[in-house]
Amino acid sequence: MLVSAEEMLKKAKAGHYAVGQFNINNLEWTKAVLLTAQELNSPVILGVSEGAGKYMTGFKTVAAMVKAMDESLGITVPVALHLDHGTYEGCYKCIKAGFTSIMFDGSSYSIEENVEKTKELVKVAEAMGLSIEAEVGSIGGEEDGVIGAGECADPNECKMIADLGVTMLAAGIGNIHGKYPDNWAGLSFDTLAAIQEKTGEMPLVLHGGSGIPDEQIKKAIDLGVSKVNVNTECQLVFADATRKYIEAGKDLEGKGFDPRKLLAPGFEAIKEEVKVKMELFGSVGKA
Ligand code: 13P
Repeated sequence: MLVSAEEMLKKAKAGHYAVGQFNINNLEWTKAVLLTAQELNSPVILGVSEGAGKYMTGFKTVAAMVKAMDESLGITVPVALHLDHGTYEGCYKCIKAGFTSIMFDGSSYSIEENVEKTKELVKVAEAMGLSIEAEVGSIGGEEDGVIGAGECADPNECKMIADLGVTMLAAGIGNIHGKYPDNWAGLSFDTLAAIQEKTGEMPLVLHGGSGIPDEQIKKAIDLGVSKVNVNTECQLVFADATRKYIEAGKDLEGKGFDPRKLLAPGFEAIKEEVKVKMELFGSVGKA
């Protein structure tokens, strides 16, 4: 069932668990995430970066695929189709395409400009019944061309953006997209606690969920994180399973080259990874 992310995140905040956002890249990814959410009776958010949207030939294609798949698989758990790190223009494209949720990443603008643009998009999202995520501070590393220095968010700026009526707020707390370097200092829980203190009921979002040790994820959820984004880990397990299949020469046996066979181990690996994350985030059985 395609819905805005508002209700599932309010419930998560009140229930002290987090909903996973899993980024999708193609049909296999989408099917794996939807089926796992249904099997575990968990709410879920499908994240689509602008790069992945372009890869799948546009947001219109993505929305049509997700809607049709949600229906044909008989998915009854709440599913939000969400733009990840959207530009101002990207947000409008996704609204037009039929997404149920958007993220406006204004973190590269001055706080004044971030406030101004976020405010406008909140109005539009509200009128359309969509949920909206905003960002303060930046997520380190690179994701699909979005590069961030990784500075921690200013809690007062977080409050300014939260007060605009966004549904969820992404705040930089030392988190990084992609693989974490060996010398990573860990999440800044002091920053997170200060942001939580200022923003109260606002569901907070932890980007860069791949590779953060489980105890840090759990502590972040305890301190007010209600949504955790995962992308890289699903890519890594998919690539690993596919490599093993080919290295074992299975594509050369019988009809092992059939894409439905070739992509099956990667598909199963994503399902398993999503299951592990949903269990860790505490969203199992919360649909
Ligand atoms: P990872 O790729 O590090 O899991 O980050 C995902 C993310 O934050 C999407 O916005």
